[in-house]
Amino acid sequence: VKKKLLVVANWKLNPPTLKEAHALLKNTKRALPRARSADVIICPPLPFLFALAKGERSLAFGAQDVSAQIAGAYTGEVSATMLKSVGASYAIIGHSERRALGESDAEVSKKLRIALDEKITPILCVGELERDEQGSHLAVLADQLTNSLASVLRGEIAKIIIAYEPVWAIGRRAEDALDAHGVHGTVIFIRKILSDRYGREYAEKVRILYGGSVEPGNVHALVRESGVSGFLVGHASLLPASFAEIIRASAGHA
Ligand code: 13P
Repeated sequence: VKKKLLVVANWKLNPPTLKEAHALLKNTKRALPRARSADVIICPPLPFLFALAKGERSLAFGAQDVSAQIAGAYTGEVSATMLKSVGASYAIIGHSERRALGESDAEVSKKLRIALDEKITPILCVGELERDEQGSHLAVLADQLTNSLASVLRGEIAKIIIAYEPVWAIGRRAEDALDAHGVHGTVIFIRKILSDRYGREYAEKVRILYGGSVEPGNVHALVRESGVSGFLVGHASLLPASFAEIIRASAGHA
């Protein structure tokens, strides 16, 4: 039996107000198919997380980041314990937009450790900045994975979700993103890296998502041909009709 696919909405720095966040969630829920055979996780901006997650049973919630600190004199930080206590059961960690602001693999590794200890499921993002004909992106990915997972033990690897997000494919149109064939090859490579480090039996259990301009226009091919366990969706998650179509495709209903 094929496992349920997982679709994660990363709202990033949208929408601007709590009122609009409530409306977006409401419209998203309304658009979703009734009997869902895909799991859905919403990652709203932090100030909205508590209000949206409160009393909401049909969807799960995640944060878009987590602090590398546990407690103390760290002005502006938000800890994993705090996130968990307001309804986040997942956290995106090491997103390329945070890495672009200077986040290192070492910090990502620390954040993974903290999230695991707090029983928050980490969604670890990796992805190359660009591709060339020599396939140098594979070495970039291998390095990111090895260094980001430094704190993660064999018995824990299956608790981590990996999102492969090639940075050059983020925020484009479906036809400019990575095609299903390209995703498929990279997913096999990522699993090989995990297998070398943790053993095949453990590596096979890890869910690997794809992110980077997933839209109604490419999701069907990705579901059919890429071998991913689901999707991390940015701009299309702000459009309830598009997001619902991505869910339907992932649930095999479309
Ligand atoms: P887009 O779907 O807007 O390309 O964003 C992808 C992403 O970064 C999700 O985390």
